[in-house]
Amino acid sequence: MKITDYSKIADKYENNQYRLDEIQVDNDLKEYFDNHPKSMYQVLDLACGTGLYLDHQIKYFDKRNICWHGLDASEDMLIKAMSKLKNVSFVHGQAENMRYENESFDYISNNYAFHHFLNKEAALDEIYRVLKKNGVYKLHNIAIHDMKKWWIYHYFPTAYYEDLKRFWEKGVLFNELSRREFIVDIQVKYRLGKIKVSDYVGYAENRDISILTLIDDHDYQEGLEKMRYDVKHDPQTTIVNDFAEIFVVSKKG
Ligand SMILES: C[S@@+](CC[C@H](N)C(=O)[O-])C[C@H]1O[C@@H](n2cnc3c(N)ncnc32)[C@H](O)[C@@H]1O
Repeated sequence: MKITDYSKIADKYENNQYRLDEIQVDNDLKEYFDNHPKSMYQVLDLACGTGLYLDHQIKYFDKRNICWHGLDASEDMLIKAMSKLKNVSFVHGQAENMRYENESFDYISNNYAFHHFLNKEAALDEIYRVLKKNGVYKLHNIAIHDMKKWWIYHYFPTAYYEDLKRFWEKGVLFNELSRREFIVDIQVKYRLGKIKVSDYVGYAENRDISILTLIDDHDYQEGLEKMRYDVKHDPQTTIVNDFAEIFVVSKKG
C-alpha cells in the first residue's frame, strides 16, 4: 500500500471547504460524557491532522473539564494544529506505537485516517491498550466499498483499486475490533444523487484528497482534463455520485 506524504498537503488541506463544512459536534462524545459523569476526562484525537475536530469539540464542550490530546504522524499537519489550539497536548507519533501509558484515555476519536495506518492490527492493539476500561474508540471514515460511483472513481478509475488496498471493509473492522473484546456498533450513512461536475473541479485541482496523490500523475492529469472537458462542453453537466460514511463506535468492556 502507498503512503500519503502529508508534508505536501498540510498547506492546502484546509483550502478544501468540504473539510470545514462537514465538522459537527461529536454526539457520541456528548453521550459518553452524559453517561459517565466524572470530574475530569481525557480525550485523544488520533491522527488529528490540522486539528479541525479538536477545534470544533473544544468550543462546544467548553463547560466541561476535559484534557484534550492530539497525536499525528505528520509534523507539518501538527504545526497547523498547534497554531490554532493552545490548550491541547500534542504528540508527534504513530498510531501503531503510541507513547502513552496504558489506560490513559476515556475517549479516542479517529477521523478520516484509519486507511492511512500501515499496520492496522498494531494500531487497534495500541488503541485498546491506551483506552480506559469502559472507554470508547470512535472511528469515522468514508466507506469506499459502498461508493463505487464516487465522482473521484468516475474520473480517476485507478484510484478505486488503490483505495481497495488501504480501506478495510466494515465486516473486517467489526471482526478485528470484536476479536479484541470491544463491543462494536457500526452505522453507515449513504447518499445517492446527481452532482454538478463544475462544483468538484476545484477539489480535484487542489489535490489534497489523499488518493489523488497516490495515483500516477498521468492518471491524475487525464481525469482532471476529462472533468474540465465535460464542464467546458456543458457547464451544467451532472453525474450520478454516491457517498457513504462509516461510524464505528467501540466500547472497551
Ligand atoms: C486525511 S488526514 C485526517 C486528519 C484529521 N483527522 C481530520 O479529520 O481532518 C489523515 C491524517 O492521518 C495522519 N496519519 C497517517 N498515518 C498515521 C499514523 N500511522 N499514525 C498517526 N497519524 C497518521 C496523517 O499525518 C494525516 O494528518
